[in-house]
Amino acid sequence: MALKITVIGTGYLGATHAAAMAELGFEVLGLDVQPEKIEMLRRGEVPMYEPGLEELLRRHVAGIEGSTGRLRFTTSYEEAGAFGDVHFVCVNTPQKHGEYACDMSYVEAAFDALAPHLTRPALVVGKSTVPVGSAARLAQRLAAAAPAGADAELAWNPEFLREGFAVQDTLHPDRIVAGVTSERAEALLREVYATPIAAGSPFIVMDYPTAELVKTSANSFLATKISFINAMAEVCEAADGDVVKLAEAIGHDERIGRKFLRAGIGFGGGCLPKDIRAFMARAGELGADQALTFLREVDSINMRRRGHMVELARDAVGGSFLGKRVAVLGATFKPDSDDVRDSPALNVAGQIHLQGGQVTVYDPKGMTNAERVFPTLGYAESALEAVRGAHVVLHLTEWREFRELDPAVLGEVVAERSVLDGRNALDPELWRKAGWLYRALGRPRS
Ligand SMILES: NC(=O)c1ccc[n+]([C@@H]2O[C@H](COP(=O)([O-])OP(=O)(O)OC[C@H]3O[C@@H](n4cnc5c(N)ncnc54)[C@H](O)[C@@H]3O)[C@@H](O)[C@H]2O)c1
Repeated sequence: MALKITVIGTGYLGATHAAAMAELGFEVLGLDVQPEKIEMLRRGEVPMYEPGLEELLRRHVAGIEGSTGRLRFTTSYEEAGAFGDVHFVCVNTPQKHGEYACDMSYVEAAFDALAPHLTRPALVVGKSTVPVGSAARLAQRLAAAAPAGADAELAWNPEFLREGFAVQDTLHPDRIVAGVTSERAEALLREVYATPIAAGSPFIVMDYPTAELVKTSANSFLATKISFINAMAEVCEAADGDVVKLAEAIGHDERIGRKFLRAGIGFGGGCLPKDIRAFMARAGELGADQALTFLREVDSINMRRRGHMVELARDAVGGSFLGKRVAVLGATFKPDSDDVRDSPALNVAGQIHLQGGQVTVYDPKGMTNAERVFPTLGYAESALEAVRGAHVVLHLTEWREFRELDPAVLGEVVAERSVLDGRNALDPELWRKAGWLYRALGRPRS
């Protein structure tokens, strides 16, 4: 009999995972504690913006005309326990308020709610990003609370999807990490991932702590690479160098590589910032804090970029934001997403607003979320409307739409032709030719 799968927590990760599992041919039941999210998913609507996800979902959600009917949604743990052979836990693991550590309360609540309903052999698979040591603890908690006892097993299978590419990354993962303690758990995971494994995705088996560490160390490496090039941008600015040329030149070295070397206002989102902080906090608890002190520097270089962008904008408008109009292009933490969690763009917009600037934000997909987080900022329906009357234009999220803007057209409606490229993604020549003063982080002034 084919395995039946539940996905607990249907946010960015879980909704994508549930749809992908249905695409792979499994019967899937998605569960969330937010009834309105479940209602949307039942109608085949995705509660967030992720390219290709709505189409994938609608191909499988039961009740939608022409769908396979393999994907259903519920808020009932009892139903999930009765339904599933394999339960993926995809709930959020945010930063604790006022601390660096990870807030594990959502994961613990999910395990505690599921366990009493595990009356027959089942594999619970943790996908959330958690501090090392969590899986071992949760495995014991699960076996103690589940009526099936030791037959309710745990595996840890961290997720590496990138928002904006989530569907592709979930269906064709570049690697599958399986933290297991038994051959049965490994065999079940191999069965779940049989299609991507057959298509060539490496399947790497390891113990729990290593699986947990793979995720946090991968994120730490990526954060370090971004902060490295941003540190080089700071030096370039001081020495009149050009960080874009520098990145191009060092990126040709295969050991370094070109990716993630675009200097700008730094990383944000619901993962990298909180994951490196939780990693530092956990290393401290383990007595290994010295090993990760460099991440403190990675974090502070990153946060410094936001402040630096605000300073550049203030300089550009003559030293004070009072009475000045500032257009902000971009609100999400990256393009092709509506996610504004810890978004550098919104952070910069918020700081300028607090310093008296009249800020107008436009983002192709992030407006609703941005207005929820920062209701006091101004919002416009288009890039052209956002820049109308602006004394400076800030390019803060590298959406394709912004790269394709015509600087001549925008130049007609602004108060001053002054643009600051916080992502080093616009074409300086194009903007300068259209009469704009173009400045970017880590690049010469002209
Ligand atoms: N978003 C990403 O790109 C990404 C990538 C890899 C890993 N992760 C990790 O995956 C996890 C989830 O991230 P996300 O971005 O999907 O978060 P999210 O906030 O978008 O989604 C979490 C979902 O879990 C639900 N939830 C909370 N408590 C629950 C409970 N007790 N029972 C059932 N549902 C519950 C929430 O209502 C929400 O819908 C995090 O640990 C994150 O670090 C995320």
